[in-house]
Amino acid sequence: MKKLIIDVDIGVDDAQALMMALADPDVQVLGITCCFGNTPLENVLRNTLRVLKVCNRLDIPVYKPLLDDKRHAGDYHGKDGLGDVPDPDAPGPELVQKKKGVSALIKMIKQNPGEVTLVATAPLTNLAVAVQLEPSLPQKLKALYIMGGNTDSRGNTTVCGEFNFVADPEAAYIVLDRYTCPTYIATWEFSCRNSLPWSFCDHWLDQKTEKAAFMKKITSYSMSYAQRARSEDYQKEITEGQGFNACDTYALAAAINETLVTEMEQVGVSVELEGKYTRGMMVLDYMELLNKKHKAFVMKTVDLEKFKEMLMRSLQ
Ligand code: BDR
Ligand code: CA
Repeated sequence: MKKLIIDVDIGVDDAQALMMALADPDVQVLGITCCFGNTPLENVLRNTLRVLKVCNRLDIPVYKPLLDDKRHAGDYHGKDGLGDVPDPDAPGPELVQKKKGVSALIKMIKQNPGEVTLVATAPLTNLAVAVQLEPSLPQKLKALYIMGGNTDSRGNTTVCGEFNFVADPEAAYIVLDRYTCPTYIATWEFSCRNSLPWSFCDHWLDQKTEKAAFMKKITSYSMSYAQRARSEDYQKEITEGQGFNACDTYALAAAINETLVTEMEQVGVSVELEGKYTRGMMVLDYMELLNKKHKAFVMKTVDLEKFKEMLMRSLQ
């Protein structure tokens, strides 16, 4: 059984990732820590509980962060972060744990030394605070999977920056510097280049299950948004597959299926903290000028058919 902790800012693609984890009989989700990000914290917490409700897994503990932050993603996920299709019977905030996410993260990892894979699909604030409080935490982790950063100087939020890293560059810097466990990164360009063809998305979402109906409902807004954007030059250049970018789901899928990613490069990585245009951009130290002992695995290519199969199963 693979033990996972997932750090999220749900968000449409975070929801997809979480549902994939919950559908896998070989995965045990120990807890979900939430961060500000795609949408204000109040929405993130509610969205997380909504996903758990659809999957009948409200038994999994959900934790809040130390603070909310005003740096939220734009319109892509809708105003409520989940496509603006509210559930009047959404579970209430009383179901969120009183204990804060950072302490919970530390406790869960310490209780399962060497066994936990941490998957981060949000700004890295919780992870950075956790390692500051407990420097030995990375040694107790099995692996860390991150959706974030970029390999080219193309951003999705600033000129050069990807949202999760730009939302808290110092946190991303600390995490890449201090988490010395095996670290795998699904970057923005990696997920763009492996986007899901629209024809597959129809097939995926037309499955006759309650989970598929939910996913179709919450995803329509972002899918239309992405379809409008695909005629833009930027999208044309970066997206070979011309389809839906399931970025967070790649990080999660790679964590639960080690054969999914077919090529990675191992390189020292860091984050620019000062540039006027480049703050929050991930830098890859190919010349080893930063003398980093710990190198991350940056994902390059993927078995798209395998990924599609995993997505199909996640809604069954
Ligand atoms: C990342 O930011 C969010 O919009 C997504 O959920 C993903 O984690 C992509 O840059
Ligand atoms: Ca996310």
